[in-house]
Amino acid sequence: MANLLITGGAGFIGSHTCLALLQAGHRLVVLDNFSNSQPEALRRVAELAALEPLTTRGYACWATADQRLIVHQGDVRARQDLDPLFATARIDGVLHFAGLKAVADSIAQPLQYWDVNVTGSVCLLQAMAAGGCRTLVFSSSATLYGHPERVPIPEEAPIRPINPYGQTKAAVEQLLVDVAASHPDWRIARLRYFNPVAAHPSGHIGEDPHGIPSNIFPLISQVAMGRRPVLEVFGNDWPSADGTGVRDYIHVMDLAEGHGAALALLLAEAPQLLTLNLGSGQGHSVLELVRAFAAASGQPIPIHFSARRPGDSAVSIADPGAAARRMGWRTRRSLGQICRDGWAWQQANPQGYSA
Ligand code: NAD
Ligand code: UD1
Repeated sequence: MANLLITGGAGFIGSHTCLALLQAGHRLVVLDNFSNSQPEALRRVAELAALEPLTTRGYACWATADQRLIVHQGDVRARQDLDPLFATARIDGVLHFAGLKAVADSIAQPLQYWDVNVTGSVCLLQAMAAGGCRTLVFSSSATLYGHPERVPIPEEAPIRPINPYGQTKAAVEQLLVDVAASHPDWRIARLRYFNPVAAHPSGHIGEDPHGIPSNIFPLISQVAMGRRPVLEVFGNDWPSADGTGVRDYIHVMDLAEGHGAALALLLAEAPQLLTLNLGSGQGHSVLELVRAFAAASGQPIPIHFSARRPGDSAVSIADPGAAARRMGWRTRRSLGQICRDGWAWQQANPQGYSA
């Protein structure tokens, strides 16, 4: 059992990882400013983990009766929000999900992205060092690889981000190299996610993007629900078998388990800087994904081919070999299960957490 701080724990990946960590017996303190999530997500996490009824101490701060899940509303850029978390309890490790992730927004608002993603990480690392905690799992992204020269992509592939979001992830990755070199006690994992999708199989927690989604999975779900008339498929002239873009879609529960494995490794081994892809090693085209979702949902998914989206690449597939060798972790859930679980969430929560 470890005491863990989870930044951004109410978000899509954070909430599913919180559940996996609670089920593995850990004790969690979550810090989230709810800029892209709802407190309801963590209430449902507590329910799924069968934790005792909540003792509510106001919106900003609540806990389960047994204190295994404590939630604070606060900002990773604010030492006054971070320092008390390290002062009140020993924190054995931090999982840092808090950040902004929309590529188009990052082009429109680079200052905001550098502030939250980079300044937020600097502030967190300062608070960790001051609080005597030097174990960190960082949410990085396959977006670092830009337009990859070949697939599957190994961790040694060149880092060539092509948008401000990717630049901020690359900057934090470099910062973590420097920090790890500065003190022998740092234990750091940089986890590069490929395309996280789906939801917990209960349909109780899932992805609830604010506004109009830009990623394909929530868009397909909404078309299947009839909330959108048609899915725009960006390009049918890519160099792939059916002409549509190919991605390595990873079930969010596989991803959550990958975090548990990385944390266990960091806590068990000598201090180190670990850099791992988290993906399945399998690529699926847009049309394959559409067919799988239609089969899982029993709903028609009308499509319309439109021009390629600027900045897209043809194919992105992880080489997940290092994660398998280092942590014994690999994805276990198929594309069919991804679609079934995503559909269960969408059907049970057509308006996300708001309803
Ligand atoms: P998300 O937006 O659902 O979750 C991020 C959480 O961080 C939200 O709950 C948000 O309210 C919180 N947050 C944002 N700014 C904050 C701040 N200043 N202080 C405190 N909390 C703050 O996103 P997600 O999909 O769960 O992604 C989690 C992490 O994984 C992000 O760092 C993201 O860049 C990275 N990532 C995501 C993907 C993806 O496709 N979802 C892919 C690769 C990497
Ligand atoms: C996008 C981001 C990436 C980010 C990732 C997770 C871009 C260029 N890349 O990745 O940096 O890390 O999200 O947030 O924005 N597609 C359609 N129609 C749609 C939407 C998508 O055909 O309406 C296609 C895309 O062309 C692509 C595939 O579906 O081939 C997956 O797209 P998406 O879910 O947006 O993920 P990425 O482009 O891989």
